[in-house]
Amino acid sequence: MTAKMPRPEELEPIERASRDELQALQLARLRWALAHAYDNVAHYRKAFDASGVHPRDLVRLDDLAKFPFTVKADLRDNDPFGMFAVPREQVVRIHASSGTTGKPTVVGYTRNDIETWATVMARSIRAAGGRAGDILQVAYGYGLFTGGLGAHYGAEKLGCTVVPMSGGQTERQVQLIADFKPSVIMVTPSYMLAIAEEMERQGIDPRTCSLEIGIFGAEPWTPTMRQAIESKLAMDAIDIYGLSEVIGPGVAQECIETKDGLTVWEDHFYPEVIDPATGQVLPEGEKGELVFTSLTKEALPIIRYRTRDLTRLLPPTARAMRRIEKITGRSDDMMIIRGVNVFPTQIEELMLRDAALAPHYQVEITRPGNLDEMTVLVERVPAVGSADGDDAGRRLARLIKSLIGVSAEVKVLAPGGIERSLGKAKRVVDKRPKG
Ligand code: DLL
Repeated sequence: MTAKMPRPEELEPIERASRDELQALQLARLRWALAHAYDNVAHYRKAFDASGVHPRDLVRLDDLAKFPFTVKADLRDNDPFGMFAVPREQVVRIHASSGTTGKPTVVGYTRNDIETWATVMARSIRAAGGRAGDILQVAYGYGLFTGGLGAHYGAEKLGCTVVPMSGGQTERQVQLIADFKPSVIMVTPSYMLAIAEEMERQGIDPRTCSLEIGIFGAEPWTPTMRQAIESKLAMDAIDIYGLSEVIGPGVAQECIETKDGLTVWEDHFYPEVIDPATGQVLPEGEKGELVFTSLTKEALPIIRYRTRDLTRLLPPTARAMRRIEKITGRSDDMMIIRGVNVFPTQIEELMLRDAALAPHYQVEITRPGNLDEMTVLVERVPAVGSADGDDAGRRLARLIKSLIGVSAEVKVLAPGGIERSLGKAKRVVDKRPKG
């Protein structure tokens, strides 16, 4: 496995800055961002006025806590272009978030925003070990989803040779990997597994393919899933995080040399972690909901956006900026089964301990009577027969009961029994009656 740690001179100066330098830049940028939002977006003016705050009330960085949060509904209520802080003619690109919960939200970019995004994405790819001259396959979807084009512009800016494959056409993905021999792939971790499976179907050992680095994100994935992918493909699996409302992919990136959480590109995106119930800012190290404020975005300044992603802020290691712990769940994915909070990734973690089970799964929630029931659908690996698979299912049910504390039915399906996603995997299927 490669460990392509960047040499100090390859980094942007801000990646090596002192904490003081970084904070001075953040403060100046934050003042600009608040004023830009207040002066140009009716929603922010109204929200700030209603909370009795004005951009000039920000004297120190932690004064940001006085400002109101922004939530997804605010973007939706001002759909499609009401949150833009520049005339629509200056918006050179529109994307829309995937809209897993309701209607997609529209986001916009000026030419400078596209440049900022390409810069943080180029920085992310380099942190993951990519370099100018590398062949890089983009298997995130192109289109309204920010994954494909975000990765594309960043990879071009870094100087990679980009293969803009997009998501889907799994046979073709494998063909292109064989023909062009990319060393880097950018794709959701769940779809990487589907590509590896297709290689095996074609008689190719995934460990022998050209891929050395995978830059995986857009969905939660556990450290155990990282090990599973790294051993299946003999590659480094690196985490990338982002969300459309903040810019897209490239808000935070794991560094290949440390693999210890994701460095937040804090010179552009200011992070806070709050208690989701009270909205109070939590001290560094405490787990809560991640909140972002954009520091440089022109078209869609975003102030204290509640991501619903759960993590904690950690001190800097490989770069000048702080890190977030790997995100293993968002509050929307949390299932409450008979009073116990359960995230799909907790089940993933247990499932992957068993060599008889494959890393493809879904969790169904039903309510046959008054109480919620959870069924875990998982596949056995091809080498395991159905009786041994069922044994593994019983083992998993016992582990879920003893370690998570809920009773679950585990159904072990034949290989291929779980539908493969071409992008973000759908882990939870809620079959409870609505309302
Ligand atoms: O998923 C942007 C993206 C594309 C990120 C490609 C990384 C790679 P949205 O569709 O707006 O944008 O979804 C954002 O996806 O709030 C998280 O809940 C989840 N997410 C994104 N990256 C990660 C990650 C893109 N590395 C939502 N780990 C976010 C866990 C992630 N969850």
